[in-house]
Formats: sequence, structure tokens, C-alpha cells
Amino acid sequence: MIPFNKPFIIGKELDYIRQAVESGKISGDGLFTKKCQDFFCSRYHFKKVLLTTSCTDALEMSALLLNIKEGDEVIMPSFTYVSTATAFALRGAHIVFADIDPETLNIDASQIEKLITEKTKAIVVVHYAGVACQMDEIIDIAKRNNIFLIEDAALSIGSSYKSKPLGSFGQFAAYSFHETKNIIAGEGGALIINDESFSERAEIIREKGTNRSKFFRGEVDKYNWVDLGSSFLPSEIIAAFLYAQLEHIDQILEKRIKIWDRYFTELRDLEKKNKIRLPRIPEYANKNGQLFYILCKDADERGKLIKFLFDKKIKAVFHYLPLHNSPYYKDKHDGRVLPVTSDISDRLLRVPLFYTLEEKEQNYIIEMIYGFYK
Ligand SMILES: Cc1ncc(COP(=O)(O)O)c(C=O)c1O
Repeated sequence: MIPFNKPFIIGKELDYIRQAVESGKISGDGLFTKKCQDFFCSRYHFKKVLLTTSCTDALEMSALLLNIKEGDEVIMPSFTYVSTATAFALRGAHIVFADIDPETLNIDASQIEKLITEKTKAIVVVHYAGVACQMDEIIDIAKRNNIFLIEDAALSIGSSYKSKPLGSFGQFAAYSFHETKNIIAGEGGALIINDESFSERAEIIREKGTNRSKFFRGEVDKYNWVDLGSSFLPSEIIAAFLYAQLEHIDQILEKRIKIWDRYFTELRDLEKKNKIRLPRIPEYANKNGQLFYILCKDADERGKLIKFLFDKKIKAVFHYLPLHNSPYYKDKHDGRVLPVTSDISDRLLRVPLFYTLEEKEQNYIIEMIYGFYK
């Protein structure tokens, strides 16, 4: 079976884990955590980065940092992973779901403004498949309406908008290092803080509401409970694995983009014959090889293609189910129909894309997709 995803080791992951253990410190905020955080700040010019145990946690930290409370409204796409929403819903926010653009599958910037009310506290954008949202328009809307902007950059490492790295636009952004992402650590994430006025409180929230980080830096002589918080920091074992991956980030991105390009080129004929639709990368964006999808004609055809490929020992999968129609949120949603979200969610199929996917495996996958549409 060709799996949909396969975790991989590329360099010194196991050596660094051993080093961490032998150093006598495997709890959080040790040498490897610092190395990872410094790596992101120097490569992408972020002001402050804190490793977290997941992207979900980084989003939850954002909601705490913004003091999201009962009755606040937060605008985001419905076509996203549940964590984007649950991080804010946990604090009592009402989630206002927007539809997506049929070309990029990102939040439709032209629809955001009419969803803003005096209760709107934030917009959360998701760069789907690592392809940038229309950031100029969205930043302008956030500024004019005096609301916060957060980037769910779970899929966006290595991507940019007009050559500026994704993750640098919102007050906060959240990365994921889950095993399906470009850079992996099993589970893991990072909070990127672009507005430094939030830095100190972010450290406190991440350390159970205490000023322990200040204590470790010798800035206070004891640490205490000073705010709300939780345990959002990963162990050094995770950070050690992650750092070894980051040392090879260029190699990983290059390989994934090569696989992505190959799918795109080889499947073009099917698009020309109007059998499928391929991803679109707008001029202002680049791609990072995070995932490759095709759009089938309808849900029925997609279901048949998944089954066909499965019988040929290829695991292909669909993606997000619309959150506005989910069992948990359906009754809380304001009833607006989000036609593009529902349509895309029904027809989208992701094909295997992972670092160790071999050329002959990819050839076989492409051949089998053609076989289905013959
Ligand atoms: C857009 C988006 N946000 C958040 C997450 C959650 O990431 P994590 O598993 O690191 O919490 C995912 C997971 O795939 C995602 O696709």
C-alpha cells in the first residue's frame, strides 16, 4: 500500500534526542527549544517565536492573549481544521464562518467586511495548502475596523505572500509540526508573535500562568502565579527532533515541491480534458509542497476515485468537512449558506505526498488516476 503520509527521519533526529537526554534536561525550554526558536527568528525575521505542543495550542494561546470572552465574534473560513475554531470557541467566542474563494480555497476577502459587527474581535485566516490568502486586502480590513488578525499557518512553513514569509502578517501566527506537515516532530507547533507588546504575557500563558521564564533568566528571584495560563511548551525530546529537521529544511521543501510540480505537470492533460481541476497558485504567492489536491466533478465521483485508488493500493483522502455544518456547530451557525465551502469540501481529494515518496510510486499513482478517468 502507498500510504497517504509517511513520517521520516532526515538527519540527526535520534542523535539530538540522545544528546537532550544525556544533557540531563528533557523538560521544556532547554537548548533545543531555543535553537528552534532562534532558527525561525533568523530565517524568517520573526520578532518572537515560542515552541508549543501543537498548532492547536498556539491558536489557544492566541485566544488567551487577545482576552477572547463570551460574546466576542471571530471571523474565519468554514473550510479549515477544527482547531482554528475550537481555540476561540473554548473562550466563549461566537464563530462567524466565511465562505472561501473557489480559486485558492482561502477565505474570500471580499466577504469579510460584511460579517464584521461591533462584537468582532478578530479575523483568523488559514493559508490553505500553504498558499497565501489575499493579505493586503485582509490587513486593510483588519486595520480599518480595528480588529486583530491571526494567521493559522499550520500548512504554511516555507510559503510567502509577495516574497514575505507567511506567519509575519498577523499579530500572531501558528505553525504545526504534526507528522503530516512539511517539517515534523510527531506533534508540535509554534506561536509566532509579531507584536512584541504581547511577548511577556505569551511567555506567562505558556508557563501555566507563571513568570517562570523570567525566573530562569534571572530577572526575578522567585516565580509565582501571575495570570491565566496552561502548559503549552513541548519537551526537549520534541524540540531535538524538530531541530534536526530544521537543519534540512531546504532539502525537504525542495523535494516536496518537486513532487508537487510533477503531479501538476503530469495531471495537466486531465485538466485540459475537463476531467479534474488542479490547484491554482496566484501570482502573489509561492508554494511549499505541503499537499497536492485535485477537484473531482462531484462527491460521488470523488468517492469512486478514493475506492478505485484504494483497490490499487493507494491511499488518497479528502480534507476538511465544513465547520458551519458540523454536528457541534450547526445549531450555533447563523444559517448562511456557504456554497463554495460545501462544494469544494465534497469534491477535493488529496493524493500521497511525503518526503520519501519514490518516483516510481508517484508514476504509479498518476497512472492509476489516468486509469480511473479512461
Ligand atoms: C489549518 C489547520 N490548523 C490547525 C491544525 C492543527 O494542527 P496541530 O495538529 O499541530 O494542532 C491543522 C491540522 O492539520 C490544520 O490543517
